Amino acid sequence: MTPQLIQPTGAAHTRIYSYGAARGQNAVPNEDLIEPIDSSDEWIRQRTGIITRVRADADTSAIDLAADAAAEAIERSGIPADRIDAVIVATISNPKQTPSVSAIVADRVGANPAAAYDLNAACAGFAYGVAQADALIRAGAAHYALVIGTEKLSDVVDPTDRSISFLLGDGAGAVVVGPSETPGIGPTIWGSDGSKADAVGMNHTLTEFRDGLAPWPTLRQEGPTVFRWAVWEMVKVARQAIEAAGITPDDLAAFVPHQANMRIIDEFAKQLKLPESVVIGRDIETTGNTSAASIPLATHRLLEEHPELSGGLALQIGFGAGLVFGAQVVVLP
Ligand SMILES: CC(C)(COP(=O)(O)OP(=O)(O)OC[C@H]1O[C@@H](n2cnc3c(N)ncnc32)[C@H](O)[C@@H]1OP(=O)(O)O)[C@@H](O)C(=O)NCCC(=O)NCCS
Repeated sequence: MTPQLIQPTGAAHTRIYSYGAARGQNAVPNEDLIEPIDSSDEWIRQRTGIITRVRADADTSAIDLAADAAAEAIERSGIPADRIDAVIVATISNPKQTPSVSAIVADRVGANPAAAYDLNAACAGFAYGVAQADALIRAGAAHYALVIGTEKLSDVVDPTDRSISFLLGDGAGAVVVGPSETPGIGPTIWGSDGSKADAVGMNHTLTEFRDGLAPWPTLRQEGPTVFRWAVWEMVKVARQAIEAAGITPDDLAAFVPHQANMRIIDEFAKQLKLPESVVIGRDIETTGNTSAASIPLATHRLLEEHPELSGGLALQIGFGAGLVFGAQVVVLP
């Protein structure tokens, strides 16, 4: 007779224990970027809400930013680094395809030999990572997970591009996820629409660059297409995440959408009919759009500025290149 396998189950519930953040060292105001794109400080402020964005020094990598953010999250979690057995890094901008950012970061922060892998879900990467950490822990595949969104987008911008470059910044945000006695991570609503793959992403391949057929690949977008998709489709996803969690917008303490454009954030808040009491992440104003890092960076800042949010419910939603999206309600640590 074939012996019956052991198939594990894990914790009944999970929660986020702590946040960590690392931002690029340099504030880059609109004035510094407008000349090559024939723009103005006023246009960028009005259309995007960005006043300045952070960018990292040349010798600071997405790996360095990730390790700094992770070290803070681990310290604040109270969980020894060697008990973390899964490290998930969401990123689209590390210039080396392999080895993964996650394995290097796991080693740097003391989590070696944790399972480690990178995931590519652009601006939805952090929400995807939280969904995976939650699932891994509840399935018994990990006990404590580190989820990091890290980007050095300044390496993949073209200063003459008017479509996206002026939005982008560098940074990393991290969380430690672990078991919980009560539910701390609501159901994830996630998905993709590859029929709109051309709406945002890299303009060339690395092989085209190698063969001299194209310049260094940089990010581009069809701004209005992504804008309309975000406002129409993502509001539905946000509503589904609230409903699936068994709550109403009135129960939220905070709303942390991907920091893509202040007008999208305002439109979300209006359409979701969020009460005045809900604190909204608006980190984009001084950090810019940091893709996978934007949600944890914005949440980290909200918790610094509003410590009373601790223990409250936050709706987070990421969306971007793919196109992909992911949303869930979480209990703030
Ligand atoms: C990129 C974005 C800020 C552009 O704003 P917009 O209001 O859609 O701007 P449009 O592209 O419709 O252009 C409006 C006008 O501004 C001009 N313009 C476009 N980019 C410009 C720039 N960087 N600086 C100055 N003017 C610009 C256009 O030429 C156009 O001029 P016209 O009215 O004389 O024809 C906006 O579309 C956006 O944020 N999109 C979504 C981003 C997003 O969510 N991304 C998610 C993945 S990261």
